[in-house]
Amino acid sequence: MSVYVASTTAPVNIATLKYWGKRDKNLNLPTNSSISVTLAQQDLRTLTSVATSESFPEDKLWLNGKEESLQSERTQHCLQDLRDLRKQLEAADPSLPRFSQWKLRIVSENNFPTAAGLASSAAGFAALVVAIAKLYQLPQSYSDISKIARKGSGSACRSLFGGYVAWEMGSNPDGSDSKAVEIAPMEHWPQMKAAVLVACADKKDTPSTSGMQQTVATSDLFQERINVVVPKRFEEMKQAILNKDFALFAELTMKDSNSFHATCLDSFPPIFYMNDTSRKIVKLCHFINAFYGETIVAYTYDAGPNAVLYYLQENEEKLFAFIYKVFQNNQGWDSKFSAKELAKFSEYFST
Ligand code: ADP
Ligand code: DP6
Ligand code: CO
Repeated sequence: MSVYVASTTAPVNIATLKYWGKRDKNLNLPTNSSISVTLAQQDLRTLTSVATSESFPEDKLWLNGKEESLQSERTQHCLQDLRDLRKQLEAADPSLPRFSQWKLRIVSENNFPTAAGLASSAAGFAALVVAIAKLYQLPQSYSDISKIARKGSGSACRSLFGGYVAWEMGSNPDGSDSKAVEIAPMEHWPQMKAAVLVACADKKDTPSTSGMQQTVATSDLFQERINVVVPKRFEEMKQAILNKDFALFAELTMKDSNSFHATCLDSFPPIFYMNDTSRKIVKLCHFINAFYGETIVAYTYDAGPNAVLYYLQENEEKLFAFIYKVFQNNQGWDSKFSAKELAKFSEYFST
């Protein structure tokens, strides 16, 4: 019996304006619009292969070499939506094999830590949905497919696009206008780079889904964030990207990371995603920007302790001179600091 296969990779996207909060859990509709930068395909990514055959007795998923349950409502929702679209194609063309009736085998691998706040659910569900859409030869646009990925994991809808991406929260109760759109392609601002500093690769103890529900239910600060802070910041960040204004982009990115983690702390019981190393990196970034007298780096943290730093290519050496010094891993970067500057530097970080 024939087996049909398709594979795809999907990159991670790291939000610079965070999605945190659902207004509809079932459809996965957010309480605010968000913005992210999709990392290059060759960096952090998920590779997913899917197969279907009339002979498969049940749906199965292997994640990073281990069999995982496919029973979660969100995964079932994605599979159902994709099968419904395939069914429409089969109804229109009876010569097509009945994939919509057959079971799936899914094999997926992340080349970075899973469930550690580096957006594995984003790359994971984007790859899952795109691989199946490819297998089923669905004609839908990426924007429409992004709505299915959104039901798997909200942040996944943004990983279907490269470059600078917005997830517009939408207002329709059925979620039909809650989708990802491109703000600008990567080539618009190709000097932008991201560095990932892994502070701890362990699986987090509060998954994003439950963490944000706890915040919505208990944080007072959260209301101010979604009603006042984020709507204004969304427009400002879009403009900063379109104008390639790094200083503004960086300031908004850092403030939004801080604001999101503040709502986590304001949840009851509080949620701690950042650790001492994360906080040291925050301090270091502010020090670096002050040291150079210009903003050359922005930090952001998703729901985990690991830092993502955004910077422009031209400042790579200036940034890593410090990073390698602090983390005692000087891999040949010449810091060119004077003795006085270094004294100031060590004094600052010895506290
Ligand atoms: P993260 O910060 O890594 O996105 P989340 O708590 O949002 O963490 O989601 C982690 C969950 O996403 C995993 O426990 C798993 O259920 C799912 N996931 C991660 N990678 C994949 C993948 N490649 N395919 C399918 N599901 C995945
Ligand atoms: C902090 O998309 O992982 O990374 O929709 O419940 O799967 P679910 O949540 P998820 O949340 C991401 C939260 C964030 C911010 C962001 O990516 O925008
Ligand atoms: Co996630």
